Amino acid sequence: MLNDTIILAERELYLTLLSLAQQQPSAYEWLTRLPTWLNDIKDKANYAHAPAYQALVARLPTVAADKVDLDSDVLTIAANLSDSERKQTLALLKQLMPWRKGPFQIGSDKDCSIFIDTEWHSDWKWQRVAPHLGTLKGRRILDVGGGSGYHGWRMAGAGAETVIIIDPSCLFYHQFMAIRHFVGAADHYKTHYIPVPLEALPEHSQLFDTVFSMGVLYHRQSPFEHLQQLKGQLVKGGELVLETLVIDGDANTVLVPHDRYAQMNNVYFLPSVDALIGWLEKAGFSEVRCVDVAVTSTEEQRKTEWMTYHSLADFLDPSDASKTIEGYPAPKRATLIAKK
Ligand SMILES: C[S@@+](CC[C@H](N)C(=O)[O-])C[C@H]1O[C@@H](n2cnc3c(N)ncnc32)[C@H](O)[C@@H]1O
Repeated sequence: MLNDTIILAERELYLTLLSLAQQQPSAYEWLTRLPTWLNDIKDKANYAHAPAYQALVARLPTVAADKVDLDSDVLTIAANLSDSERKQTLALLKQLMPWRKGPFQIGSDKDCSIFIDTEWHSDWKWQRVAPHLGTLKGRRILDVGGGSGYHGWRMAGAGAETVIIIDPSCLFYHQFMAIRHFVGAADHYKTHYIPVPLEALPEHSQLFDTVFSMGVLYHRQSPFEHLQQLKGQLVKGGELVLETLVIDGDANTVLVPHDRYAQMNNVYFLPSVDALIGWLEKAGFSEVRCVDVAVTSTEEQRKTEWMTYHSLADFLDPSDASKTIEGYPAPKRATLIAKK
């Protein structure tokens, strides 16, 4: 099914990369690879659900937004939805569940709008991180592992010149496109999404003033490779914002879970903050500072109407919430900022 939202988003992404290429020729390599990246996500052989998700986005009603607020905790698209448009939108968005990162609101009137109450209060993470960033105005930003795009939209809302979100998840890409459908041109097409993992990008693009990697490092089997790949995307003097799971301990403390961690089977390295600072320095970053450490609460990550599977409360030891059900320290996250 022809999908105007995705076609338009792709067109704007090409234009943005073309304009970047005029300043930094490495963006031509992105342009060369872009057709493959964008076609792969549509290929049923790679992603069985891709055609269904695309069709869902294509069926979203076209409504003119009165106001789009990308700078508030609930990312809000105020629009007058008729009763039938509301029902149609709700049914389609529910078929894109589970919604993990948000929240989002579509509609003007609080009672008749659609509130996507996501598993995560991603706004709480943004509240912890944003005060330490300085201004994002005019910056070119890469958000690695950006999920549904919630934080990427917030970066645009904070004045970034361009935000490129990357994430290999087919579902999250289409969740982003569903929100993009309603945001329309209100962000001046500053916010883009490429459905690829970091490893697929040209290694030394040096295109971005700020690179975010939030909630990704612990999923990587080779953390140093991840840090080098992040560094390769930054301009000289650019800023890395790294948020990841940590444990208590000294500079030599790193947990490598034997099997699962909080039921996740793809968690590899959980360093202490001091160990992580050492890793960043060893990877060649400077001015490394830890700006926040927070234990993840069952209020921040929880089961909702939009994510009905098990969530954090089910992954903690029922008799001791300071431990995961595997007996490891419960999730604690640190945010570090460093310069290239
Ligand atoms: C725990 S979520 C974090 C989402 C968001 N950044 C946040 O902090 O709330 C991790 C995300 O990283 C993505 N991811 C996993 N491996 C990746 C890789 N190699 N490159 C880019 N994204 C990756 C996953 O698809 C997932 O959406």
